[in-house]
Amino acid sequence: MIKGPKGCPDILPGKTEALYIVISFIRETVENFGYREIITPVFEHREIFERSVGENTDIVEKEMYTFKDKGGRDLSLRPEGTAPVVRAYIEHGMKSLPQPVKLYYFGPMFRYERPQMGRQRQFFHFGIEALGDESPYLDVEVINLALIILKKLGLKNLSVKINSIGCKKCRPKYREALKEYLKPRYEKLCDDCKRRFYSNPLRILDCKKESCKRETENAPRIIDFLCDECREHFEKVLELLDILGVKYEIDNRLVRGLDYYTRTVFEIQSGDLGAQNAVLGGGRYDDLSESMGGKKTPGVGFAMGIERLMILLEKTGNLPYRERKTIYILPISEADYIDAFKLYMDLGEEGSSVFIPYKPKKLKSGVTDAVKRNASYLIIVGGEERERGNVILKDLSRKVQEEISLTDIKERIKQLEERNGKK
Ligand code: HAM
Repeated sequence: MIKGPKGCPDILPGKTEALYIVISFIRETVENFGYREIITPVFEHREIFERSVGENTDIVEKEMYTFKDKGGRDLSLRPEGTAPVVRAYIEHGMKSLPQPVKLYYFGPMFRYERPQMGRQRQFFHFGIEALGDESPYLDVEVINLALIILKKLGLKNLSVKINSIGCKKCRPKYREALKEYLKPRYEKLCDDCKRRFYSNPLRILDCKKESCKRETENAPRIIDFLCDECREHFEKVLELLDILGVKYEIDNRLVRGLDYYTRTVFEIQSGDLGAQNAVLGGGRYDDLSESMGGKKTPGVGFAMGIERLMILLEKTGNLPYRERKTIYILPISEADYIDAFKLYMDLGEEGSSVFIPYKPKKLKSGVTDAVKRNASYLIIVGGEERERGNVILKDLSRKVQEEISLTDIKERIKQLEERNGKK
């Protein structure tokens, strides 16, 4: 048997319905705040991610699925959605639209990671990006919008971790101070962090290895190195979060695994997830557009890991489901089949959830099958009733039945469904 690729689980019926209910709800919520959907391809030129996420990040260095197409182009399955959205913003001249341009996206992302609970090789992001404004109000909108979504879905036990990682003016000073601090500790760092020491020392702060955590415990804090503009921006973000009553924790180790961030970075974590506890992450990326060849365009956004969200919803009993009342249409004999089949097609076309077996069934086995399939109603087409031009309509949950003419049955079903308030 050939199995599906590792870390790319199938999403089966039962889960897909819940997924789309959740996604529709998130869509509607972000649309309330003026975000509109953008769909970008699942692969891009590799360079898009090298220039944005960063050549020395784990994502680009180790986790990208890269391939050459038949024309010899270097392409990568997208590991994230921010860089493609900014690429599209530049390519389609969205700078000339009223700013900020607020976009959202939903789709699969790909990272060659070691799979575990909440960590996959193909996973879904729902993300928002607000481009063209550097107001701290927008940072707070984005953070609070994420919280609104999670809370409305019924989640509690969430914590907001926030930090500012400054800008290209102030970050180099911090980088140097951090390296100075780490130099005498270099030998105690893990092999990855030894490399990061030269390429990307800030990432050492969020290494999960105990030895590295210990060595960075008393490291200088980036917020002590922020320039006046970045400090004011960060203070304003915190002040606004306070005004909205959003609880947060300043996390000096939060630097995020992507290079494009400037100023605000944040994550929302859940105490109900295991080791992979970040439900979503995001931040500001004021230099990203320029680094990709566009005009200076500040931006801020987040991406939510949909699998992690679904795990959380399931664990906390908040997984939504849609109950459809299915009508089982039972033809008793070959002679009844065409009428039954026509009724089946008509009811389905009119919006009912319907089922028909693909050959006639005796009454007893038909009823058993209908119950097995969780049908709510049974329409029996056959027997003496049919000779009278009628069918039997059985309400399987209330265990009552009525005889009704074949011409009136559709109207009767409509009435029942209206009375039930849902199909
Ligand atoms: P990220 O933190 O790399 O950020 O991913 C966002 C979220 O995606 C994570 O918090 C996590 O829930 C989920 N996630 C990441 N990797 C995996 C995986 N291998 N399996 C399952 N879930 C995963 C970004 O990608 C940025 N583009 C977010 C952003 C948008 N920043 C600004 N705008």
